[in-house]
Amino acid sequence: MHLTHLSLTDFRSYPRLDLLLEPGVTAFVGANGQGKTNLIEAIGFVATLGSHRVANDAPLVREGCAEAVVRSRIVRGDRAALVEIQIMPGKANRVRLNRAPLQRARDVAGLLATVLFAPEDLALVKGDPAERRRFLDELLVARSPRMAAVQADYDRVLKQRSALLRTAGAARRAGSRGDLRTLEVWDRHLADHGAELLAARLALVEELRPRVCSAYAAVAGEDSPTDLAYRSSVPDAPRPGADAPDEATATGLTRGDTGNGTGHHDTASDRPAGNDTADGSSATSSASSGIPAPDAAAPRDTPVAPAVGAGADAPNDATPEVVPGVPGAAGADRTGGDGTGGAGGVGGAARRAAAASTRAGLAEAILAGLAEVRSQEIERGVTLVGPHRDDLLLSLKGRPARGYASHGESWSLALALRLASFELLRADDREPVLLLDDVFAELDARRRARLGTLVAQAEQVLVTAAVGADVPAELAGTRFEVAAGEVRRVG
Ligand SMILES: Nc1ncnc2c1ncn2[C@@H]1O[C@H](COP(=O)(O)OP(=O)(O)O)[C@@H](O)[C@H]1O
Ligand SMILES: [Mg+2]
Repeated sequence: MHLTHLSLTDFRSYPRLDLLLEPGVTAFVGANGQGKTNLIEAIGFVATLGSHRVANDAPLVREGCAEAVVRSRIVRGDRAALVEIQIMPGKANRVRLNRAPLQRARDVAGLLATVLFAPEDLALVKGDPAERRRFLDELLVARSPRMAAVQADYDRVLKQRSALLRTAGAARRAGSRGDLRTLEVWDRHLADHGAELLAARLALVEELRPRVCSAYAAVAGEDSPTDLAYRSSVPDAPRPGADAPDEATATGLTRGDTGNGTGHHDTASDRPAGNDTADGSSATSSASSGIPAPDAAAPRDTPVAPAVGAGADAPNDATPEVVPGVPGAAGADRTGGDGTGGAGGVGGAARRAAAASTRAGLAEAILAGLAEVRSQEIERGVTLVGPHRDDLLLSLKGRPARGYASHGESWSLALALRLASFELLRADDREPVLLLDDVFAELDARRRARLGTLVAQAEQVLVTAAVGADVPAELAGTRFEVAAGEVRRVG
């Protein structure tokens, strides 16, 4: 897929911007602070309804303004979709798809698939587990947009269950027994939704493993063995790559000491980069509250914002504005379809059946895990078992990358995770738009050229660099100059 239009109103440093884009490579070149990353961030926002730089939306709105609007036109094969997102800090964002308001903003997540490479990616290797959970969860949504609803459901249940635990804890401390019957109902919900998310993450990690290894070799130019392993807080959950070294064993810590199992935990450091909840529930929850019903707050015929290029550049009405896999658009049941637009999706009936049996097993494992830690949970008012406490362990040459890998190795591993994501999405027939924000400056000439060759195959690649010469020759293409919020085509 690719973008043909991006237009911004009061987004970051841009009062107003209209950009026409083409497939192939486009580089945005300009000195620091001129607004290059702001562009990339806006496109990333369309894909994930979140920013890769900040956890809440307020900084995305231009100083002194009440709201920002990002509009984009996405083309996939012979279909096109117009997505308009109105970002209103402190309120639910409003989304219009082909000019029709969507009930829930999150229904647009994953419609645009992107893979974003950015300096912040180093945190995938060196940062907290929340970074890696977010990596997995965003990739799940990019592959299968209905996963946004699965994640939002899980986050919602997690919040409610944890609130109940806090109430029960307070009651217990006050000497009464508290109402624990309701808790059992929430255990069940948590287990069901958690199992669905967990099953999806486990399957994803299996698919990523070989691809990360080959992408590492391709970008680093050396065949150092890399591996991924999913470490779950759920006792007895199947673990892809269970033989990979894990920080806990490598450092001699026990499960409880890693900040991931039943040990001390509620430090800010293990919270998601997205929404800070006491549990570290996944970062997608910002979109979970949805938007008010259109007739409650935004009458249907009140435009959220003018359409992209409402004049000469208006989308050609002859193009069928079919929206692959965005159920809310047509009022369809979100459990139907996986957003691959009839391309067959990521698996057939047999695979779904297998997933269902795995899910049932995982749900039981979560329930058993919760039973084990019940009194601790009540004492602390925190849900201690579930995918919001899990981690993706990355290893290099048999050692955990976090804590052992050099700066250069960490970079190569982060790039390998992104390249593997690109490959997976391609294999799903969800060719993503590649966004490379200022990454070439971080790399030596050889890795720069190798990365350039690897990403040049994508349908659309948008690159930023402070210095034009940093963009490798492999990525020659259209060029824009970015200066003081003006974006001008120069080649
Ligand atoms: N909410 C905002 N309102 C106004 N200006 C902003 C806002 N957020 C960031 N900026 C400005 O945007 C510029 C940074 O843009 P950025 O895209 O990160 O630059 P770069 O070209 O280095 O990638 C800075 O000058 C910053 O002050
Ligand atoms: Mg930048």
